[in-house]
Amino acid sequence: MTKWNRPSLWTGIIPVLLMIVFLYFNLDIPERFTRGELDCPECAVRNEIGTPLEGIFDLSDTSNPITKELMFTAKYDTLPLIMTATSVPFYEMTLNWYISVKNAGVRNRVLFVCHDTIIIEKLRPHMRTDDILALYSLPFSAVPDSTYGSNDYGLVARARTKMVFDVVSREIPLWFTDVDMVWNRDPWPFIADLQSKGHDIAVLRDGNHLCAGFFAVINSTADGIIDFFGDWDKGMSGKNLNQGLFNTVAKQHSEISLGYLPANLFPDGRQYFHDFDADQRKEVVVVHNNFIKGYQNKVDRFKSHNLWII
Ligand SMILES: *[C@@H]1O[C@H](CO)[C@@H](O)[C@H](O)[C@H]1NC(C)=O
Repeated sequence: MTKWNRPSLWTGIIPVLLMIVFLYFNLDIPERFTRGELDCPECAVRNEIGTPLEGIFDLSDTSNPITKELMFTAKYDTLPLIMTATSVPFYEMTLNWYISVKNAGVRNRVLFVCHDTIIIEKLRPHMRTDDILALYSLPFSAVPDSTYGSNDYGLVARARTKMVFDVVSREIPLWFTDVDMVWNRDPWPFIADLQSKGHDIAVLRDGNHLCAGFFAVINSTADGIIDFFGDWDKGMSGKNLNQGLFNTVAKQHSEISLGYLPANLFPDGRQYFHDFDADQRKEVVVVHNNFIKGYQNKVDRFKSHNLWII
């Protein structure tokens, strides 16, 4: 019998080394991973690129990997964090929104705050490596009721003001968004325009009211900004709707300058689906599927306007 010739150490290692060198120079590493001195020791977690980060959403725990990551984002990222909240009844809508964001070439990191573990399982295979899945459990009823105004809806609404406050009070630049949207283009140029005019928060309107479903904190160090979101959160105790309160708080905090995103590009659902013609719709940056009740009705309306892309 001929003895099998073991490959020498070098024939084994050299191809591996060559592959590592090849991969290193061919990875398209976004600028934000290499920028800065990385002088904060707690930010070392950012060196592990390649898989989306997953964990518990608890910003009061500074040893939590998600907390560290968001601290890194606050310190080094040029683009604000996009935060949204979701739960399993909204899985398909969430995915539809997420794909629209990626198709639009939006480069901000996306943080999904997930209110149950099943939505995490479902979203995981679709996650891009920069983005984050964070669990923030809520004591939903056995069959979660996503109806506007229901008890489960109220849990979500109250969690929202709390987590927005948690992020803003740490001066993390934030865009908050609902998932019943399709982003046709990157909103950044329009938000940047409001920023250049000295506004503190970019908002859009639902009819005559401010919409709490999409806003961008454009000056996270503005005087009064933490109180603004603190008052929104405090006012939510015992309530299950947050939009009216958002409007009240905005009136009370006249020191905060609100910049309005243009309604022709960021219309509410009534304008987009009822008032606009095809040419007007073509211009729209963010489609908001509101002013309609029921999850399935929203899905059907997206489908009938070719905005269901999953
Ligand atoms: C943000 O607000 C602070 C405090 O009002 C102000 O000093 C600063 O110039 C603002 N930054 C921008 C970019 O407008």
